[in-house]
Amino acid sequence: MKWVLLLLLVTALLGCNNENPNKVVFFVGGAPNELEAWESLIKDFERDSSISVELLKQPSNTDQQRQSLIVSLDAKLKNPDVFLMDVAWVGLFAHSGWLEPLRNIDLSPYFEKVVQQVDTYKGNLIALPIYMDGGLLYFDRDLLEKYHGGLPPETWSDLLNDSLEVQSQIRPGHPAFYGFVWQGAEYEGLICNFLEFAGTQGGFIFKGDRVLLDTAENRWAVQFMHDLIWKYKVSPPNTYTEMREEQTRLYFQAGHALFERNWPYAWNLHQGEGSEVKDKTGIAPLPAPPSGESVSTLGGWHIAISKYSDVKEQALAFVKYVTSYKGQKKMVLLLGWNPGRQDLYHDREVLKKMPFLMELKDIFLHARARPVVPYYPQISDIAQRWINAALAGRYTPEEALQQAEKEIAALLSRYAIIEGSMPP
Ligand code: GLC
Repeated sequence: MKWVLLLLLVTALLGCNNENPNKVVFFVGGAPNELEAWESLIKDFERDSSISVELLKQPSNTDQQRQSLIVSLDAKLKNPDVFLMDVAWVGLFAHSGWLEPLRNIDLSPYFEKVVQQVDTYKGNLIALPIYMDGGLLYFDRDLLEKYHGGLPPETWSDLLNDSLEVQSQIRPGHPAFYGFVWQGAEYEGLICNFLEFAGTQGGFIFKGDRVLLDTAENRWAVQFMHDLIWKYKVSPPNTYTEMREEQTRLYFQAGHALFERNWPYAWNLHQGEGSEVKDKTGIAPLPAPPSGESVSTLGGWHIAISKYSDVKEQALAFVKYVTSYKGQKKMVLLLGWNPGRQDLYHDREVLKKMPFLMELKDIFLHARARPVVPYYPQISDIAQRWINAALAGRYTPEEALQQAEKEIAALLSRYAIIEGSMPP
């Protein structure tokens, strides 16, 4: 009996050591079509190299992805070897020392500002942009034309009036119909949306290096977001409990809404088979105040190699493949991304498929970044909690913003004490 147990143990240990030394574990999240596209790109890479890649599929929610990566990296686990990071947490990961510097990369095809501001840490290149995001307004062109002359709204009050009008016409025969869907659940997307509403009034989270949330501009934004749901009832009641990117995307795609705020990825899916809004979706910049400017939050995802990977050379080969012209082009054609490489914005085939790509480039080149500090995810967690509570009607915008500001200030002073300085 003892021998049998010993044999089993040895076999198990041998099994553990028998991991393929030439395998890269890649952690990536997204909508189902994004994961399918990754699978296909991985197949190309495996065919062109002798390296195999295991895909660790994740949900699209950025906060969930961040949490699970933090668990592995904090425990110094050998895998995942390669992962995508939301622009919102690159700073935290770099500051934590979890990213392996990327060497021998030709940076000329990339947007210099993005590489400098996001992908460089203490003089080292620690990541590369895969795609850029900026918040956009999608609209149902047919409905807007039928009931409202067809032009997308330029101001928030236009958006509200169009929503009220079209909704009142459609609702009687279509009770699930709403004017405007956006991301209001308690997660990172809520802050992206809040910064767009607030940004058009001049609001933000910081003034210089001081946290400043409880301002008239920010209060207006939270009040307006609240009122869209409760007072005007043009956004569904589950906006603050459930609406994330995918929920809004599916809602609009099912023909249940006139307007949708989402990232560029939604376009291809709206144009896909089975979509109720195929060939009748329009894209416009988000509304602004009269004579003010539209604000779009800068989003996007960046690829990096874990400091703890033990197949760094293979991981780098994979990163180079994924970021190559060929690799990126394939993903852009499949998914309609705004690629991280500038040269693809001139590619004929890409432009044919996405004629509005140049306009999108303009939107994200002017998009507003979230605070670039390593503690941003914690700042955001606090702001999410309070703003979401105001959307739920549990606090007034003023109370919520004051509380969030207090908690964030306390967090920052804790870090200032630990590190002897404010975050950069
Ligand atoms: C998108 C953006 C990302 C943002 C997230 C919020 O994935 O690319 O930057 O943080 O949405 O949900």
